[in-house]
Amino acid sequence: MNPEPEGIAAAALPLSASAPGKCIVFGEHAVVHGGPELLFALDLRTHLVLRASAATTVNGRTETAEANPYLKEALRRFAPPVPGLGLTAISRLPRGSGLGSSAAFVAALAAGLSALRGGVDRASLAQRAFEIERGAQGVGSPGDTSAAVAGGFLALNTVHGTPLWEVTAGAETWTVRRVPDPGWNWVVAYSKVPHDTGRAVRSVSERLHRPDGPALLGRFRDVAEAGIAALIAEDRAAVGRSLAENERLLEEVGVANDRLRTLLGVAAEESAGAKITGAGMGGSIVALPEPGAESRVRQRLERAGAEAFVVRPSADGARLL
Ligand code: PMV
Repeated sequence: MNPEPEGIAAAALPLSASAPGKCIVFGEHAVVHGGPELLFALDLRTHLVLRASAATTVNGRTETAEANPYLKEALRRFAPPVPGLGLTAISRLPRGSGLGSSAAFVAALAAGLSALRGGVDRASLAQRAFEIERGAQGVGSPGDTSAAVAGGFLALNTVHGTPLWEVTAGAETWTVRRVPDPGWNWVVAYSKVPHDTGRAVRSVSERLHRPDGPALLGRFRDVAEAGIAALIAEDRAAVGRSLAENERLLEEVGVANDRLRTLLGVAAEESAGAKITGAGMGGSIVALPEPGAESRVRQRLERAGAEAFVVRPSADGARLL
């Protein structure tokens, strides 16, 4: 087996950094409360160029920089030794789509800022990226940022796979492990209804604090564990069943809507399974299409009004170019 990727080396300005978005296959929301999660880094990335500048700007605009909570939080924690940071950002990830646009931005930015301070190993970069995202969002788990840092398939809070690192926030710890990529194609489709991750996470947290919350969390846990085992066994039909079961739980905690249900219906025609991916209440779905049906599923989802992509997991995590 190949060794895991090395750290991010020291570099001087100007520099370019990039990181992938992510697709959650099982366990979103429950992972915030310590449940298992399976996700992979997408082959859709955010690219950043960092330059020294008189003022801090994003794509030439100070207002854009001031309106970006992730940039503010990153600079508060890891300010570079320059008067201002001129940032150019290009991304293929739709914003607010649940496909990890903020995690990719944060991971690329943290990689760049860390390189200016002498470089960083990947475990520390995963911790830094999570602290920036959680600092800006106020809630959440380190799944998204770990995928953007590590690339490939990851499983959190489970015994499956080989240990990569742990990420902490106060007394909470999430274990992050590498699981092998079975090499399948997936389809993700953005409903074009942007969502607010913080709002969705808070709403589901309230639901999980009702008397039946622990039992519900237990069902999330069982579905994700079964799904992770099925993926490792490369059992497509079983993965499809776990996708459907996970979707029923996401319905139960109130993050589905009619738009997402329509897309799930469209994807179901030629897929082993499909579900919401990410926080829901808008955002995206993921489907595991039958081999050979990927483009048709993508086209049908586009005709139904979504922005759809055939994707494969990207082995490349955050990196300097
Ligand atoms: O950022 P989103 O919308 O993909 O949601 C991330 C997944 C959650 O489990 C809902 C939150 C989290 O931080 O893990």
